[in-house]
Amino acid sequence: MDKIRIHGGHPLSGSIKISGSKNSALPILAATLLTREPCTIHRVPDLSDTNYMVQILTHLGAQVERASGTVSVTADKVESLAPYDVVRKMRASVCVLGPLLGRCKEATVSMPGGCIIGDRPIDLHLKGFEALGAAVRVEGGNVKVFAPRLRGAVINLRGKFGPTVLGTDNVMMAAALTEGTTVIEGAAQEPEVVDLANFLNKMGAKIEGAGTRRVIIEGVAELHGAEHDIIPDRIEAGTFLVAGAICGKGITVERVEPGHVEAVTNALGNCGFRIESSAHSITVSSNGQTSPLELVTDPYPGFPTDMQAQMCALLSTNDGISVITENIFPQRYMHIAELKRMGAQMQLEGATAVIQGVDRLFGAPVMASDLRASAALVLAGLKAEGVTEVSRVYHIDRGYERLDEKLSELGAHIERVKGT
Ligand code: EPZ
Repeated sequence: MDKIRIHGGHPLSGSIKISGSKNSALPILAATLLTREPCTIHRVPDLSDTNYMVQILTHLGAQVERASGTVSVTADKVESLAPYDVVRKMRASVCVLGPLLGRCKEATVSMPGGCIIGDRPIDLHLKGFEALGAAVRVEGGNVKVFAPRLRGAVINLRGKFGPTVLGTDNVMMAAALTEGTTVIEGAAQEPEVVDLANFLNKMGAKIEGAGTRRVIIEGVAELHGAEHDIIPDRIEAGTFLVAGAICGKGITVERVEPGHVEAVTNALGNCGFRIESSAHSITVSSNGQTSPLELVTDPYPGFPTDMQAQMCALLSTNDGISVITENIFPQRYMHIAELKRMGAQMQLEGATAVIQGVDRLFGAPVMASDLRASAALVLAGLKAEGVTEVSRVYHIDRGYERLDEKLSELGAHIERVKGT
């Protein structure tokens, strides 16, 4: 297995272009199953997760072509069964359920298994499908949803930890081809949900209110092909902004939507960093004096849980005592033990991390456990004295396009060590 080796202490500078959003590309690729006609999606990041989605579409019978960031899909005929072998590699595969139910009025998909970041049920997705009139059966490790006829309904998708992103996507996609009007209350407001709704509307859907807590979908009989550009990846942008903060002389992220990253730039501004934004770029630089921070993760537009680990890495060397509370995935702290191996001082109290800032971190061999935790270890390695070796970097390749190469373009001394 590949490793990433980082020689820490080298300041970053310059600018970097942000790739298309993973969490937007996955549901949008799944949405192409809603029509027989060709769809063309641009700015699809080259990641193992988007490759998995292409494999699933192909397995379901779609013709898929891919060339440098553009994916063309024609799902003239589709199967409605997505088996374990194809689905087990990626939880987000669950978002083919909605399109298949909408189009074929039935779908069987392997139930997503356990996840290292915490309990991730799909009960809200299934509740939404049942409200549209589908019968739901879980057997043999598969979830089967079917309905001779679907009809619009009012559905509240808010759960114990707030709205569900992929649940909102799934119900929106099924409802697009459902007779009558569907109203989703307690909908997720993430920019990726808006991007999916914009794509569906280009296909002829009638969706209003995406980006608010109340989404209204007027069902149509059929959808047609469409072309779409994926929005920039706000989590990749946030990760590079933290890289610039943790050891930068000032870096600029380009091809970004500053509005989508506001919770992150506000947090950086509140703990000692200067932020300058223009229409599609953001520059972060140090004020020379860092300070502690109190942070809670929340659904959008709150502070994203997918940036929590990276902020732990940053705050580990900020002055003072910082406190982070994880409201979405309370157990999402696999990175803490590894950061402590690098000299960080952190205590976990339930879903809260208490971080005592230290003067310096030390390079060490560390183990990646999930996508964002691995990004946090790389960021800590950039700051640490000596060499950090991050293993299991396949986690990084799931969600970051060429992370090590991009950091190297900014001046990091970083290399990928090929596994034997
Ligand atoms: C999306 O996952 C993202 N993944 C995640 O990013 C992100 O962490 C998450 O939203 C929250 O922002 C993709 O978009 C592919 P949720 P999703 O359903 O949709 C609970 C990354 O690093 N819940 O919004 O699966 C759930 O357990 C990944 O890129 C239920 O209880 O997350 C969690 O506590 C990791 N029942 C909360 O809601 C349900 O049916 C939010 O989960 C569904 C969710």
